[in-house]
Amino acid sequence: MFTKAIVRTPAPSMINGLTSARLGKPDFDLALKQHAEYIQALKSCGLKVICLDPNAQYPDSTFVEDVALLTNKCAIITNPGAPSRRGEISGMRETLSAYYEDIEDILAPGLLEAGDVMMVGSHFYIGLSARTNQSGADQLMAHLQKYGLAGSVVELKEVLHLKTGVAYLEHNNLLACGEFLTHPDFQKFNILPIDSIESYAANCIWVNDNVLIPQGYPHALETISNAGYEVLEVDVSEFRKLDGGLSCLSLRF
Ligand code: GLY
Repeated sequence: MFTKAIVRTPAPSMINGLTSARLGKPDFDLALKQHAEYIQALKSCGLKVICLDPNAQYPDSTFVEDVALLTNKCAIITNPGAPSRRGEISGMRETLSAYYEDIEDILAPGLLEAGDVMMVGSHFYIGLSARTNQSGADQLMAHLQKYGLAGSVVELKEVLHLKTGVAYLEHNNLLACGEFLTHPDFQKFNILPIDSIESYAANCIWVNDNVLIPQGYPHALETISNAGYEVLEVDVSEFRKLDGGLSCLSLRF
């Protein structure tokens, strides 16, 4: 169960965030409204939401998931692979020290963005991507081992982050799309397939047996509802324009 989430309000500079999507610039006012609705959705699942101030220096800083990995034993501050995002970790130690005694770091030459890390109980799947390298993954696995946790690497071919294409929904259920549907590491799970035309909906989040899904993906909605979850749709169209999904917008712990 999660009890808390950390989010960061987007700054007006978010319209200049990194993107590979050709969906145009985000509408900042709409993004703010959607961010507030996202916070409400987390609260409605029983979470206390800690909202960090906007950080205009870093356009992508609203995607707070990438800068830390929070486990039930320790927190790990990452070293983002995107050079323009590296400074986003500033202040995270201070924020996290209110909740964690043990805080570790990923250090250069290691690179890691926690959008590449999927927690399944005490095991953490780590995507090797354009943002996360082997050294970052090795450091993370060493940190996890120190606290009785474990990790393994998954090579990515098509997606930005591991959790762009998979989401663990507890109860052995794995939402998966594209390259992950047949990935050998994931065949032990009950795969809930997401069609390629709805690939954005593979980035959902489980919060205490509710599943937050992006608005506008009817097949994904049906698949997840039929699996027995309470589903909450949240419109995150403006964050999608920056390759950001529901998981990227919070740290849940
Ligand atoms: N715009 C989010 C990212 O590329 O990291």
